[in-house]
Amino acid sequence: MIPTSPATFLGDSDMPTRPIRFWHGDTLVTLDQVPPTLTVLEWLREGAGCAAVKEGCAEGDCGACTVAVTRLDAQGVPQVRAVNACIQFVATLDGKVVQTAKDIAPAHGLHPVQQAMVDCHGSQCGFCTPGFVMSMYALYEDKRAAGDCAVSREEAIQTISGNLCRCTGYRPIVDAARGMCEGGWQGPDMGVVRDRLMQLASQDDAVFGLTEPVDARFPGHGEGRFFAPRSLASFAALRAAYPASRIVAGSTDVGLWVTKQHKKIGDVLWVGGVAELDTMREVVDPFAVACWGEGTASIEVGAGVSLSRAWARLRPHFPDCGEYFNRFASTPVRNAGTLVGNVANGSPIGDCPPWLIALGASVVLHNAGAERIVALDEFYTGYQKNILQPGEFVRAVRVPLPGAGVKVNAWKVSKRYEQDITAVAVVSATQVLEGRVARVRIGVGGMAAVPSRAPLTEIALTGVPVPGAASSASVQTHLPAQVGAAMQAVRDEFKPLDDLRASAAYRSEVAANLILRSWLGLGAVRDVPALILSDMLPVLVEAST
Ligand code: FAD
Ligand code: FES
Ligand code: FES
Repeated sequence: MIPTSPATFLGDSDMPTRPIRFWHGDTLVTLDQVPPTLTVLEWLREGAGCAAVKEGCAEGDCGACTVAVTRLDAQGVPQVRAVNACIQFVATLDGKVVQTAKDIAPAHGLHPVQQAMVDCHGSQCGFCTPGFVMSMYALYEDKRAAGDCAVSREEAIQTISGNLCRCTGYRPIVDAARGMCEGGWQGPDMGVVRDRLMQLASQDDAVFGLTEPVDARFPGHGEGRFFAPRSLASFAALRAAYPASRIVAGSTDVGLWVTKQHKKIGDVLWVGGVAELDTMREVVDPFAVACWGEGTASIEVGAGVSLSRAWARLRPHFPDCGEYFNRFASTPVRNAGTLVGNVANGSPIGDCPPWLIALGASVVLHNAGAERIVALDEFYTGYQKNILQPGEFVRAVRVPLPGAGVKVNAWKVSKRYEQDITAVAVVSATQVLEGRVARVRIGVGGMAAVPSRAPLTEIALTGVPVPGAASSASVQTHLPAQVGAAMQAVRDEFKPLDDLRASAAYRSEVAANLILRSWLGLGAVRDVPALILSDMLPVLVEAST
């Protein structure tokens, strides 16, 4: 829903102040006077004295701090999600249930997830174990809700993608995840959890005498205010009134500024309480239509929608991008982080912007009730800089669905498979007509100060015949000169980043290889391994010149 009413918020004195309220296991917690950036992990360990959650990295990387956070979805169904307690602020637990490995165990005995870890010898020193257990518990509850006790190897691996173990080895842990649901469903019924969540929601009514959800400002203690608006109009009004406030969505970037850089971020304006921002809908977007023609639909993803939810909706439309999606961080990071946060953050090595630029995505910018829509490739103005005006924010990103006639390939090169930031990303969206590239859009990451489109490379590729049912050997001798020219174009049109992640020369060469690989992906030789491609590269370039 797009609001039309102008901002009416006058000042934070208009805003009711009330404590943060949530359930920690079976205990109802009421918190007053906490710093807005106190993390869930700090509160659990130091406030609640809970040792069943560990601190390893304090930056979302190791999973030792993983907890399960449950909230009701729009249909009132409890959704259990694993998140990293070290980079979530405790105020974001308001209205939710948080559980640690201690909270899921019955009074005497073990939860089936814990029992599976014992049975499969999934723990040695045990430091990582509570985190693994909670990642697995979230999957266990998903499976229980679906009445499906089979866990595939792929599901098990995705589930623990955010958990590191230095001593056990992953095979026994994967075995535990695969077997944990086989002994029948145990643990607190989700009906109990739903009742608790409903009770929290209804306390708003009791406290404020209202039937609608109300905004809140949680009392801080001088470090800054934590604004938790409940409607888009209030969010926009607060943004206009306090343009210097820090918007926080999933805090998977902002959390690290606090825990690793020890930054004071001042007032927090939280996205997560606004139901209107937590929606997706199909729209017709003029930029998408200009890129891919009449009839192109787009999915508008609101600023509060997590990466996990966004990709669950988008994934079926992009069959060749599954691996790219899976390699974004880890399941707990994707459960908290948002697609819009990845766009707004504007990192030159963020994974979503190159993909969205290749698709011809746009952003919906909102300022005190007024909106403008801007093509994403015009959003960035410099390193982590964008065109947002004071008081403006990104309400949504519109993701075009170019349809089956357009092939979308996405490649991410990083040092590790999971939980690693990209060195180079190349995404191509290509329309092939009569055996030739009719239209192509390319987005790149790691190649410049901002995520970028590659216009010269696009021009070089347009009109190139797609590879036929070729073997890699015949490709070597029949490589169209234009493909070599496109590879050279991507080297020429960017001055890549040069840092400890990768040198500029490496990035240039990898980007050129990925252009080749994208082209190969249009034909029947798409599975040529990257290693072979890099071995072939000198031959290919020679053949093309
Ligand atoms: P937040 O941290 O809440 O905010 C990020 C920035 O965007 C802030 O400046 C905030 O003020 C601003 N912002 C948020 N919402 C809005 C809005 N609506 N309007 C205007 N400004 C807004 N990123 C990758 O791309 N690929 C990876 O593989 C990857 N791996 C990671 C691994 C780990 C362990 C961690 C901790 C992070 C990783 N990230 C990765 C970074 C991060 O997860 C993403 O950038 C994520 O999408 C950020 O979303 P968020 O909702 O958490 O943003
Ligand atoms: Fe490592 Fe939180 S402590 S992910
Ligand atoms: Fe020791 Fe995993 S059991 S770190």
